[in-house]
Amino acid sequence: MQTGIPPVHENVNMPSPPPRSDAADLVAWYSEMGIDVALDEEPVDRFAEPPPKAPPPPDAPRARPVAPPPPGRAPASVPPSDETTREARTTARSAKTLDELRTALDGFEGCNLRLTATQLVFADGTPGSRVMLIGEGPGRDEDIQGLPFVGRSGQLLDRMLKAIGLDRGSVYIANIVPWRPPGNRRPTPQETAVCRPFIERQIELADPDFLVLLGGAAASELLDSPEGILKMRGRWREYDTGKRRIRAMPTLHPAYLLRQPLHKRLAWRDLLALKEAIDAEAAT
Ligand code: URA
Repeated sequence: MQTGIPPVHENVNMPSPPPRSDAADLVAWYSEMGIDVALDEEPVDRFAEPPPKAPPPPDAPRARPVAPPPPGRAPASVPPSDETTREARTTARSAKTLDELRTALDGFEGCNLRLTATQLVFADGTPGSRVMLIGEGPGRDEDIQGLPFVGRSGQLLDRMLKAIGLDRGSVYIANIVPWRPPGNRRPTPQETAVCRPFIERQIELADPDFLVLLGGAAASELLDSPEGILKMRGRWREYDTGKRRIRAMPTLHPAYLLRQPLHKRLAWRDLLALKEAIDAEAAT
């Protein structure tokens, strides 16, 4: 794991390593922050002195300093090439069933997220359910288990579903990106763009009557809206598959609700609106 912890040196001239308990605490802290993936083959000693810089030639243009992205923010990334986008579209469209789509996605190499993820997190629940929930992207627990919403926010989601008489067996669950973004950062627009044909096809093949869009990333991506989730939530929208229109309810993401428990009452209103719509449709 690349943590920036200084290597343990045998050499007596080197600074002694941190006491074991400090190192273990540091690793635990990194892990809680979501830093639990190795991005390089070799560990990086971030405590080492940087090599001295050669002075620039007197007439060299001055580089403007670039601020590093704030922690947890997605790095700027290269837009997918037209060819990758085309390949994503053709691959997704050629899948005739959800099983074929999963296999196609597993073999798709156009999204860099797969390089740092442990595995594909395709879906959970029952395909063909009337309700499909879509989140942002797998987190650490989902990456390990290969199933969406199985960590803390998933446990809250289960309780939210139960409150309106649903459970994992009576809904279908997926994410707009099916690989975990490193450190649980938000997927970049490029990553969501390249994965979009797959979630679109997944919706089409799952063919639900209601979509629940969990959080701003899923809602603004699938509804093509620049609005924030606090503005969008609670109002029925329509998602057009090209073949039919599906009622879509944007609501707050369970991970957000864990941080802002007072907003659970807003999510509760959205869930009641969903239940009402399901019951009304069942009565017709
Ligand atoms: N958050 C998400 O958006 N999706 C998951 O699967 C887990 C956490």
